[in-house]
Amino acid sequence: MVEAQSIVVPPRPEIAAGARIGSMAEYERLYRLSLDDPETFWARQGERLTWFHPWDVVFDHDYANTDFGWYLGGRLNACYNCVDRHLAARGNQDAIIWAKDEPGEYERISYRRLKHEVSRVANVLRAHGVRRGDRVCVYMPMIPELAYTMLACARIGAVHSIIFGGFSSEAIRDRIIDAGARLVVTANEGLRGGRRLRLKETVDRAVDGLDQVRTVLVARRTEAEVPMRPGRDHWLDAECRTQRSTCTYEWMGAEDPLFILYTSGSTGKPKGVLHTTGGYLVYAAMTHELVFDHRPGDVHFCAADVGWITGHSYIIYGPLANGATTVMFESLPTYPDPGRYWQAVDDLGVTTFYTAPTALRAVARAGDAPVRAHSRRSLRVLGTVGEPINPDTWRWYHDVVGEARCAVVDTWWQTETGGVLITPLPGVTPLKPGSATLPFFGVQPVLVDDEGTVLEGRGVSGNLCLSRTWPGQARTVWGDHERFRETYFTRFPGLYFTGDGCRRDEDGYYWITGRVDDVINVAGHRLGTAEIESALVAHEAVAEAAVVGFPHEIKGQGIFAFVILTMEAEQADPRQLQGALIEQVRRVIGPVASPDAVLISPGLPKTRSGKIMRRVLRQIAAGEYDDLGNLSTLAEPAVVEGLIAAHREMAATLAPDPPPEVS
Ligand code: WTA
Repeated sequence: MVEAQSIVVPPRPEIAAGARIGSMAEYERLYRLSLDDPETFWARQGERLTWFHPWDVVFDHDYANTDFGWYLGGRLNACYNCVDRHLAARGNQDAIIWAKDEPGEYERISYRRLKHEVSRVANVLRAHGVRRGDRVCVYMPMIPELAYTMLACARIGAVHSIIFGGFSSEAIRDRIIDAGARLVVTANEGLRGGRRLRLKETVDRAVDGLDQVRTVLVARRTEAEVPMRPGRDHWLDAECRTQRSTCTYEWMGAEDPLFILYTSGSTGKPKGVLHTTGGYLVYAAMTHELVFDHRPGDVHFCAADVGWITGHSYIIYGPLANGATTVMFESLPTYPDPGRYWQAVDDLGVTTFYTAPTALRAVARAGDAPVRAHSRRSLRVLGTVGEPINPDTWRWYHDVVGEARCAVVDTWWQTETGGVLITPLPGVTPLKPGSATLPFFGVQPVLVDDEGTVLEGRGVSGNLCLSRTWPGQARTVWGDHERFRETYFTRFPGLYFTGDGCRRDEDGYYWITGRVDDVINVAGHRLGTAEIESALVAHEAVAEAAVVGFPHEIKGQGIFAFVILTMEAEQADPRQLQGALIEQVRRVIGPVASPDAVLISPGLPKTRSGKIMRRVLRQIAAGEYDDLGNLSTLAEPAVVEGLIAAHREMAATLAPDPPPEVS
């Protein structure tokens, strides 16, 4: 184990905001308290926020109906907690530092300015008819207007649904329809790694002909003029100029929706995961403070995109609820060179840094020199999230980036969990490279085998479930509570099933082994193989498709598509067809889901009952043909030989990969 540095802090009976956990004994005592007396424990945590009206009940749950509620009866406003309440003590402190695409270009937004900007946007939204409870879809680059829009929605009680910039117009359209949004916020263009992203154009394709969308607000990131449809499209900056810089805030119920975030699962279209106001914000604030050991004066740099849950919780809501200074990074880790992160760290005095293993692998392959070119003196805590981190990358992060003096926190969590659930506490938890270590307060991981038997004790592996509710837990799937129940609570009754496999070692440490369902994790982005398959079969040349993940040096997992062509398409040029199919997926889902390999296949390995044996496909995609295990249930064993031959031929012609765009 890597010993944690000792930080000597007197023990506190409970963890109030600003208090630190000083030792493992203290962690263990508080962890036990959080399970034994959750009401007292979580009531104390609720005090992190400013409430307009106190709650009556700390939490309530009804597992049979998958109904969870926190701080019931309490009233608050998330925007007030993230902005207004900090003005008296730190109005002039930087709330957001925007690190623009070009290196060395920064813009600082103080808490005071943040309040004015957010209020203007909130007034604009109200002027366009947005009311409490209405949904607002947001498709924006990493610019301050994105933060303003989120907080403005929260201020007036509207529910934001942010769509990551790597999704296509079809994906945006589906999400707008599902959420029933009438207003969309976008930007004329985005800038990333020196390239222009035509966001408005993509939104136009999504909303044209969709009468439900009455208003499109367009932030101005570049000088580019874009077509503006009269009556529907409005420039956000022009609208803001006509608005006052003060705006009243709604008193929201603790369980009123704060946002929807679509995420992929094993089946069907992405689900609109719903988070509510009180519990989510308490949990985001608490985990940001304790997992990153946040202290006043810190500069927190989470390099994710706000379009994913990591950005929601650890760029915006957690840090701002804590009155921190948070960095919004518009660029790529490799632009213009692989030292970009560390340059920003030095330029801004970053103390806590958070990114995905895929980004670390992308920069680590350039060696240590780009890291050593910058001092990184200010760094104290280094976090990772999104996928298992391989021990080599962990060590590189710890030894080279952190010079063995910073704690590495490997944080496991999900869109559905709202915040970190399994994680070390920096300076306290002894670390093991590759392990997310131990559960956070109030979190009780349970491992079960495929038959649903709970695996007690240490040295066991199984399906990772959670047996308790925690404040940041998702409450439902937007518009489909039955799908929520069915997806997460039916596989192992009485437990929330995460979809991940996990091992608990002899020391009680948790090691996430990856998804056990048909979800893949590509460059830290979560995608459903079923979605990609249905995009492929929508192409006229495709009769059937099966998509699996395969090991990828930088992305963690790549996307491998096996396709069977229709009779008519069999004569087509295979190279051209492969290109067309990649394009098809980009059009239906977006560049984020581009297959890394498309193999035109002679058949798919199916059991006699017609089920595709994905295990065999995963092994072939990985080039592991030698031990394919038991194939006796296959309807046509010869298919496997044909697939291996086709894969061999393809692997021989594959060009080396360009560095991926990671965010
Ligand atoms: C994976 C991202 C291993 C996991 C916050 C989970 C991880 C999925 C880790 C959720 C980690 C996240 N170690 N695997 N530290 N963190 N994952 O919803 O498979 O985009 O189920 O949320 O990412 O992805 P999501």
